Amino acid sequence: MTKKIGIFDSGIGGLTVLKEIRNLLPEYDYLYLGDNARAPYGTRSFEVVHEYTLQAVKRLFELDCDLVIIACNTASAKALRQIQQTFLVDLQDEKRVLGVIRPTTELAGELTKTKHVGILGTNGTIASNSYQIEINKFHPEVQVHQQACPMWVPLIENQEYDSEGGKFFIKKYINELLEKGAIDTIILACTHYPIIAEEIQKYVPKTVNLISQGEIVAERLRNYLERHEWMDSKLSKKGTIHYLTTENPALFDEKSSLFLGEKVQSELMHW
Ligand code: DGL
Repeated sequence: MTKKIGIFDSGIGGLTVLKEIRNLLPEYDYLYLGDNARAPYGTRSFEVVHEYTLQAVKRLFELDCDLVIIACNTASAKALRQIQQTFLVDLQDEKRVLGVIRPTTELAGELTKTKHVGILGTNGTIASNSYQIEINKFHPEVQVHQQACPMWVPLIENQEYDSEGGKFFIKKYINELLEKGAIDTIILACTHYPIIAEEIQKYVPKTVNLISQGEIVAERLRNYLERHEWMDSKLSKKGTIHYLTTENPALFDEKSSLFLGEKVQSELMHW
C-alpha cells in the first residue's frame, strides 16, 4: 500500500477534476502534476501533446503513481489512446492510465433524447474528433456537433469571463453550437469550463443538459477501483495530496483557489 493516484493536466484546470475525485474518494493519496510551463496544450499539435503527455505519465510512474488520470481533455483526446495501445502494452507492467473522455461520452449518449449532442472544447480537442468517435462507437444514431472555444481558457484564467468581452465570447460560441442542430445535451469538454457553467447556462435553454466532467470521472474512478482489487490494494490511503507544477509555484498556488476552492502549496518540478 505505497502507491498514489497521479492526476495530470496541462496546467491548473485539472484541479476541477481533482476536486470532485477528492470529494468522492477522500481516503486515497494523490499527486497532482500541472505542466504550467508548457500550457496551454489546446493549441498544440498531436505530436507535441503526445510527447508532453507521455513524458508526464512516465514521470508520475517514477513518482510511485501506478494509476494515472489524465484530467486534461486535450491530452486525453490527443495522446491517451496511443499511450494505452503502445507505451503501456510494451511496458507490460501493472500500471494504468485513464482519461476523461470515455466516461462522459457514454453518459451523454444515454441522456440525449433528440439524439443531438454538443461538444465544447479547445481547438485541439475539437480537431481530434475524439468525442464524436467515442460517442458514435456506443451510440451510432447520435449526431455530434462540435464547437471550439479558443477564447474561454484565457478568459477564465484571467478571470475576465464576467466582463462585457467575456460575456460576448461565451454567448458567441454557445450560439454557434446551438445553430448546428436540435441539441439537448452539451458536454463541457475542458477542465476550465465548469468554472463558467453558470454563465453558460444563461445562454442555453433550460431543457438542455449541461454536463461537467468532474463528478462523472470521479464516479467512474470509484467504479474502476471496485472492479480492480489488484490496483486498489496497492494504493495508499492516508488522504494526502501533493501538488507539482513545472513553472512558478506561487502563481499556481494563487490560481488554485479559483479551480479548487482553496489555496494550495505546490512545488516546482523540473523535467
Ligand atoms: N486542460 C485543457 C483541457 O482540458 C485546457 C487548457 C489547455 O489548453 O491546456 O483541454
